[in-house]
Amino acid sequence: MPRRASPSRAAVSRRSREIEQVGVSQADLVIHHARLLTLAPLSEERPRTGAAAGDVGTVENGWVAARDGVIVATGRDGTWEHLELTADATVVDAAGAVVMPGFVDAHTHLCYAGQRWDEFVTRKSGADYLAVLERGGGIHATVRATREASDDALLALLERRLAEAARLGTTTIEVKSGYGLEPEAELRSLRIIARAKANAPIDVSPTYLALHALPARHVAARRAFVREAVAAVAMVASEGLAEAVDAFVERGVFETDDVRPLVKAARDAGLALTLHADQLNDVGATAFAARMKARSADHVANASADGLRALARAAIPAVLLPGSAFFVGYTPPDARRFLAAGVPLAVASDHNPGTSPIVGMPSAIALAVALCGLSPHEAIVAATINAAHALGRGERTGALVKSRRADIVLLRTDDERELAYGLGAPLVGTVFAGGRPVRS
Ligand code: NIG
Ligand code: FE
Repeated sequence: MPRRASPSRAAVSRRSREIEQVGVSQADLVIHHARLLTLAPLSEERPRTGAAAGDVGTVENGWVAARDGVIVATGRDGTWEHLELTADATVVDAAGAVVMPGFVDAHTHLCYAGQRWDEFVTRKSGADYLAVLERGGGIHATVRATREASDDALLALLERRLAEAARLGTTTIEVKSGYGLEPEAELRSLRIIARAKANAPIDVSPTYLALHALPARHVAARRAFVREAVAAVAMVASEGLAEAVDAFVERGVFETDDVRPLVKAARDAGLALTLHADQLNDVGATAFAARMKARSADHVANASADGLRALARAAIPAVLLPGSAFFVGYTPPDARRFLAAGVPLAVASDHNPGTSPIVGMPSAIALAVALCGLSPHEAIVAATINAAHALGRGERTGALVKSRRADIVLLRTDDERELAYGLGAPLVGTVFAGGRPVRS
């Protein structure tokens, strides 16, 4: 891919229209002199596929201005000097840096206690992962450790993980429950996530992971457990504890038939649906997610061609989680199959103590390129605007465009492709979430 692909005529006129908006409003934050990745849409806003799947909307010597946490204009060269600035405005000369939207991590399990060192060092394949779970380890081990931790200890762990994600450039993050299993314990986790959200420097999107594993006391009464989990959806929604519900649809874990009543309850309660779909085996969960009009289908490493066609038809993003393929040792999802089928792709960290202990989005981007075959620019689209769509925030964040949240990251490099290359390098500099520095 050429380093500085010249933007299309439509892109140029769209980007110059934004420059004309200078002077419309005062700014209290200006970042200028940057290689700006706007991620602006070429026409209307929608999950990016086709040629748009790798268009990061580059503006050389670009600038972005914000007021009260909202982007008011973007432009190029010295035109920012015509902006009216507030008395206490912050003006950042970003010479030599890439400036881009904050990352959107659309799939995480940050609310847990304990680690799974032993399982991690002995496990060798996806088959092993399911065998450990079947024997009462895996997810169940984290459920036990989470139960034993006090609310305050759990909150402190979650807040530390949110702060780490923010320092690594994440400005919007999904956080699932799922290590309580029993509805009461799931509600406890969701209430802790709500407390963390209230204080978080970044935007948190909570998800009720209602069907993650079957607790031991329910093995003979699986339907009864599903009924209890389904019954909890209304309560979760009435307390405003989640935006979506999720389930682990996998051989020997939960089946699409278990999930159907959950989908109905979510719909009735006005919650979105997302699924752990076809992670280790093709169980038809990807096509099922599309039929159920899920917000996203996640993992999808073993999704069938039918599943891909169904996602493409419905324009539903597939969220690739390469950290889990890397650490569990199964074949990662092949991004080229999805792109060829016209499926919008997002990338997320899937941070959890079992399958994906990776921290932060730069690592997820590097793994998505190295393991799944995305180009660096496709991975950046997948980690910003497409991930925002996967969380129902495609109009709110994920791009440096007027009227969006001022979620902005400065990279300590003049070439964003280094995100895919310098795995582990400290590339993230200043991070603004809603216009406020979360790290400087
Ligand atoms: O996304 N596979 C299901 N859920 C998580 C892992 C949970 C765990 O092992 O603790 C995942 O991979
Ligand atoms: Fe997950």
